[in-house]
Amino acid sequence: MSESHGPSERSGSNEPRGLTDPSGLVAASDSLGEMKRLKDEFTRFMMLYKFGIDEITTKINILKEEFSQIHDYNPIEHISSRLKTPESIIGKIERKQFGQDIEDIRQNITDIAGVRVTCSFISDTYKVFDMLTSQQDITVVRVKDYIKNPKPNGYQSLHVIVEVPVFMSDGPTPVFVEIQFRTIAMDFWASLEHKIYYKYDKAVPDTLLAELKNAAEAAGRLDLKMEHLHREVQEYSAAEALEARERQNGGAPKPLSLADRVMTELLEGLEN
Ligand code: GTP
Ligand code: MG
Repeated sequence: MSESHGPSERSGSNEPRGLTDPSGLVAASDSLGEMKRLKDEFTRFMMLYKFGIDEITTKINILKEEFSQIHDYNPIEHISSRLKTPESIIGKIERKQFGQDIEDIRQNITDIAGVRVTCSFISDTYKVFDMLTSQQDITVVRVKDYIKNPKPNGYQSLHVIVEVPVFMSDGPTPVFVEIQFRTIAMDFWASLEHKIYYKYDKAVPDTLLAELKNAAEAAGRLDLKMEHLHREVQEYSAAEALEARERQNGGAPKPLSLADRVMTELLEGLEN
């Protein structure tokens, strides 16, 4: 937040307030004005993040709808979002001893706007990540791949901080949004772990921590198994489509289209 100055500094006068403003009314209206300015500045600041969330969720919803209407399957299960509360922002500033100016907060607290994208399979988390981050108006600021490198407690998700322009009446302002991509199994684990963490007031017994880690590993194995099944189903559908086309051609093998050839090669690659 901006520096606060005393009333005499603002008026440029060194005279004690009592002589020029015996009733104190001018000073009171000055500080009311300052309060209103601060409130408006903070409201605008928070609105930018709300709009940042809107921009990102719209982009993901567009992909979701496109996939469900045009493609034969949809990689996005659901999307959720949250705007950090002012209390939580203040808590983080105090905890991490960040500067308190609006610009310090903007630079240091990159998770004021948060979007979570839950996908069906591990490969989908990367696919949706690529589709979103390759869009022209999105700048990738930081990526943390906790899927490839899970946290010591077992936590898995693909995190990215992006910058997206928000257009208000005075032009575009770049806004940071934290996006977490995860599978249903990862999400299931993370929400339970979060509840346990708070239930024990962050002092979870070691035995429970070990069990949680086992559960995370089991969730990881389930994800791999589901990914494998998913590929088998895709392979089966592609083979069936090819057979149907051959039957239509009266058994004579028709030259494969480029897409068919690439698909066949990809599927053969998966088998090996
Ligand atoms: P924060 O300062 O807490 O935001 O952490 P960070 O800046 O180091 O970011 P990181 O990418 O590690 O984590 C950010 C967010 O990911 C958290 O606010 C949670 O939503 C989620 N997260 C990270 N680690 C865990 C975890 O161990 N368990 C659960 N349930 N969620 C986690
Ligand atoms: Mg956070």
